[in-house]
Amino acid sequence: MNNYCTKLKFPNLNVDLTSYRKQHRNHIRAPKDIMGSELDDILLSVGIKLFWVEAFYLDKNADHTIHCDGHELDDKAKLNYVVGGKDSLMTWYTDVEPSKIEKRTSWANTIYLGINTDDITPTFSTTMEEGFYIVHVGKFHNVWNKDEERYCLSACLIDAKTNHRLTFTELQIRLKDYIDD
Ligand SMILES: [Fe+2]
Repeated sequence: MNNYCTKLKFPNLNVDLTSYRKQHRNHIRAPKDIMGSELDDILLSVGIKLFWVEAFYLDKNADHTIHCDGHELDDKAKLNYVVGGKDSLMTWYTDVEPSKIEKRTSWANTIYLGINTDDITPTFSTTMEEGFYIVHVGKFHNVWNKDEERYCLSACLIDAKTNHRLTFTELQIRLKDYIDD
C-alpha cells in the first residue's frame, strides 16, 4: 500500500479505445457511459457516481508532461482504467513553492498546474499493469510509457447524494472491499 496509487479488483472493460490513438499522445473528453453499466452498478453500491471521464493515449516511449490536476495541490483522486502500456511508469513528485507553479488549461479543456521539470523531485514511482486504479492526482505526477501503446480512461468520482468530489482518502475507504493487495 502507498499513498499515491491503489489497484482495484474491478472487472476489465470490453471497450475499444483505438479511436483515441493520435500520433504520440492524446487527451480528450470521453462519453460518460464509456465504462459501462456493470461498473456504474458497482460504484453506485458504495454511493459513488461518475462525474466526467477523460481518455488518454500514449504512444510507445512517449510521456505525459508533469502536472497536477485542477488548480490546487490537495487530496483529489481519479479512477483510472489502463489498457496496454506494459511497464509504463507513473511517478509522483514533491510539492514546490507556489511561485514556480503555472495555472494552465489542457487540450481537453481541463485545468491543471504546470511546472518546470528542473524544479521538481520524484517521491514515488510504480509500473502499472492493465486494470483499474485509484490514483492521487492532487500532487504533481506524470506517466512514461515503454514499448507498448497505452490507453487510459480517467474518471472523476463524486458522492451519489451530495455530488462532492471524493478524495483519495475517501475513495480508499469507500472501495476498501475492492482493493487488490
Ligand atoms: Fe493527471
